[in-house]
Amino acid sequence: MEIGGVKISGKAALAPMASVADRAYRLICKEQGAGYLVSEMISAKGLCYGDRKTEELCTVDDRERPYALQIFGEESAYCGRAAGLLMKYKPDILDINMGCPVPKIAGNGAGSALMKDVERAYGIVKAAVENSDVPVTVKIRAGWDEEHINAPEFAAAMESAGAAAVAVHGRTKTQMYRGKADWDIIKQVREKVKIPVIGNGDITTPEEAVLMYRQTNCDLVMIGRGSYGNPWIFRDVESFIANGAVPASPSLEERLAVMLKQAEYAVSFKGERIAMKEARRTCAFYLRGIKNAAAYRSRCGTLQSLADLEKLAEEILHNEN
Ligand SMILES: Cc1cc2nc3c(=O)[nH]c(=O)nc-3n(C[C@H](O)[C@H](O)[C@H](O)COP(=O)(O)O)c2cc1C
Repeated sequence: MEIGGVKISGKAALAPMASVADRAYRLICKEQGAGYLVSEMISAKGLCYGDRKTEELCTVDDRERPYALQIFGEESAYCGRAAGLLMKYKPDILDINMGCPVPKIAGNGAGSALMKDVERAYGIVKAAVENSDVPVTVKIRAGWDEEHINAPEFAAAMESAGAAAVAVHGRTKTQMYRGKADWDIIKQVREKVKIPVIGNGDITTPEEAVLMYRQTNCDLVMIGRGSYGNPWIFRDVESFIANGAVPASPSLEERLAVMLKQAEYAVSFKGERIAMKEARRTCAFYLRGIKNAAAYRSRCGTLQSLADLEKLAEEILHNEN
């Protein structure tokens, strides 16, 4: 599939996930076959005011392409300026977050709150398109709440503002991450607009990815939480679609090697102190389901250095293989 002329060759994209899908995580998913990656959300206002912390969020690694930078904001003036500023980082695509439900974002009129104000959202997309050299896309939810499900009409409005694709997470804002994603709303969006539709919500297996393609007719599926500690899901989706078979699960050795590689990437991008603090959570996901997982996972909570993690991996291999 293509988004505004940008070719996406893989069958599954990695969803943007703030504080989770950082550069290290994305590279690992890419190596396992993710066809398209989106950055953590970046504040349009922060960017305009030159916030230093946004620099790492904006950094695009050529190995990640095709790749989108995602911004959030509630004002078209800032979003337009931010779109222009982001061009120096050379993303392939610029995505606008219109789905985030957290109070810090939606409470300020950005993220999912934009689904209640189509005119404002339209102005934001228009301003971004005017200031961007690359295709602009939008990520939305089903709607604000059960009584205001408007994804199809909203997506059509974004299309007329110039959006080159829309990603739909089939939950309402008030659902947050509870309940089940409604895939039927993704189908309805697919029927309403001409631009590519990316389906998202609750895919945790290759079988579910295929089911989403079939049930919604979407152009690409996007996987978030289903990739936690399991970047192999992208490889599995590719293989299942190509030949109906899922490769054998990774061995304990491979699992630990990829866990270490992600930590090494993170250390090289963020420095050991920050990276290892974050690794306490990410590494625990890789250890789900292995023998004596609970004990090893609690050890993750005490990680201070890469050497600690290497030692833990060695011990696990020695004890459990
Ligand atoms: C920890 C976390 C952080 C997220 N951050 C973002 C974000 O920065 N931008 C965004 O558009 N969506 C964000 N999302 C939503 C996901 O992209 C995705 O829409 C949602 O998790 C549903 O997909 P899944 O069921 O495959 O996880 C986040 C979700 C999680 C769990």
